[in-house]
Amino acid sequence: MKIVVLTGGLSPERDVSLSSGSLIANALMASGHAVVLADIYEGIKAEEEALPALFLTKEDNRRYEYHIPDTAPDLEALVRKNNGRKELIGSNVLSLCRLADVVFIALHGSMGENGQLQAVLDCNGISYTGTGYTGCLLAMDKDITKRLLCHDNIPTAPWITDDAASLTPEKITTSVGFPCVVKPISNGSSIGISFAHNKEELSSALTLATDKLSSFGSKRVLVEKLLKGREFSVGILEERALPVIEIIPKEGFYDYKNKYQQGLTTECCPAALSEELVKKVQSLALSVHKALYLGTYSRVDFILSEDGEFYCLEANTLPGMTPVSLLPQEAKADGISYEELCERIAKLAL
Ligand code: DAL
Ligand code: MG
Repeated sequence: MKIVVLTGGLSPERDVSLSSGSLIANALMASGHAVVLADIYEGIKAEEEALPALFLTKEDNRRYEYHIPDTAPDLEALVRKNNGRKELIGSNVLSLCRLADVVFIALHGSMGENGQLQAVLDCNGISYTGTGYTGCLLAMDKDITKRLLCHDNIPTAPWITDDAASLTPEKITTSVGFPCVVKPISNGSSIGISFAHNKEELSSALTLATDKLSSFGSKRVLVEKLLKGREFSVGILEERALPVIEIIPKEGFYDYKNKYQQGLTTECCPAALSEELVKKVQSLALSVHKALYLGTYSRVDFILSEDGEFYCLEANTLPGMTPVSLLPQEAKADGISYEELCERIAKLAL
């Protein structure tokens, strides 16, 4: 197949995407596909008539090397460099996508994951991997996600959503209470998330959640009750739940640093859970996947609270595919190699 892997973008998860994209492109090339790895922030430099030539032999394929940084990228500098435009799908990118049999979306966050890109590809009759426009739109917004989960009786922590100025300590005390978790409504990789145990911490948590990073999504902030317990994640591939993974950060919570710096988090897959609890959380993950209209693959995150109940944190329509990411580890525990995982995801898009 001719496959364009879309990577980069200008969301706060740009660097994560560059890592996912590079690995995915390599895996697809190893499986014999003609692959173009396209950073949609950089745009495609070639003139339109030269685009077909980008699908070259395995050896000649364009390939980029990136490394996972330990901090979020300097977005302001990137946006400045890009003449103030936050993101773009240039006409060359679309022309290139039209030449492909499948567009493999390896973007994370904002435009690549919130349905906007999917809508553009739909409008242009271009086949792409993963979840469609509706599921992306629903799952990227943590408030909409939680409303739909409640509708289907899937446990999720009590929450309140508003613009930051309206989320006064009094409002928090009478709604979810302290301690609470403060989140931008639509970021990924825990960017902008922090805990607040009191009034003072609430103020800095709201500032963090509304800083420049969240300007890539909605300005609304979500505050939810802090649930203490163990954290688990369940990948879904072709309507089937993969083995459950437990996430145990050595310090603090599973934030950006603990997610992407090798060795800072222990991941146990299959998780040390009773058969009954494994079945329960897998069944909940499938219910979440269906409730949000998700596509061929996703990953759903949970807390097993001290009250013995699994509470859904969120669903990810474009789970990370980096060397430290969870979905590839879950697939591996199920006997599915990284190459096979990419191959299946690509084929399912046809
Ligand atoms: N948002 C990151 C990439 C994840 O869910 O894995
Ligand atoms: Mg996420």
